Amino acid sequence: MLKVKGLYAGYSPVPVLHGIDMEVGPGEAVAVVGANGAGKTALVRTLSGLVRPMAGSIVKDGVEIGHVPGHRRFEHGIAVVLENRNLFGELSVRDNLRLAEQAGRRARGGAMRFTHDEVCELFPLLRERGEGQVSLLSGGQQQMVAIARALLLQPDLLIMDELTTGLAPRIVKEILAVLNRLRERGLSIVLVEQSVAIAAEMTDRAYVLSVGRVIHEVRRGEWQALLNDKTLVKAYLHG
Ligand SMILES: Nc1ncnc2c1ncn2[C@@H]1O[C@H](COP(=O)(O)OP(=O)(O)OP(=O)(O)O)[C@@H](O)[C@H]1O
Ligand SMILES: [Mg+2]
Repeated sequence: MLKVKGLYAGYSPVPVLHGIDMEVGPGEAVAVVGANGAGKTALVRTLSGLVRPMAGSIVKDGVEIGHVPGHRRFEHGIAVVLENRNLFGELSVRDNLRLAEQAGRRARGGAMRFTHDEVCELFPLLRERGEGQVSLLSGGQQQMVAIARALLLQPDLLIMDELTTGLAPRIVKEILAVLNRLRERGLSIVLVEQSVAIAAEMTDRAYVLSVGRVIHEVRRGEWQALLNDKTLVKAYLHG
């Protein structure tokens, strides 16, 4: 599915990411955790094509996509929910979704993985507020639009950066319940999280990032060991 090898990337001649290796298998949910400034967002931006790799490879389903621009990565089954969501605030919910669905249909032909009706079933708000302007919605509601829009790009790999930060607990619960349903459907997930508790609840494995390097891997079944490792948690994960 996704294989990242020796990835260097950043914003200036000096890279922020220093040789990242990571893999995501079909239907796997994988977390990326780490303190502020660890390079999590830089990694998301590089996987989503907003930042070009300086070295290394990003292979999706056997195809090197490091050179593929961000606006064409969905054609390779990758969709991203960025920290700032990047919605069209001046358009309606429905129009935001429609644009993504059109692009997704173009990429997938008839073989749609997610339809408008399905995403509305996941998030009933999308239908209730379909004609509402996106910028008038709360942050949590906008996050739901952002996830739905990403799904309508028809990904088999969904990458999300700090999905739950700053949202009310009730909304966080609703969003995490939807992520669980998406996992059950076999969608692969990369979840970038500040909260180790949420990452542990929602994913099978994790990569712990520090200063642009993977300094620890949490393997399947090892989440509890990480949560018990106070030294690691304190040093790299904000205690
Ligand atoms: N646009 C930019 N130009 C130059 N350097 C940047 C830029 N954005 C981020 N950086 C630097 O890249 C490094 C990694 O930042 P990044 O945003 O990836 O961290 P993060 O792990 O996502 O942190 P946070 O938990 O705060 O979101 C930091 O040292 C940061 O200062
Ligand atoms: Mg970040």
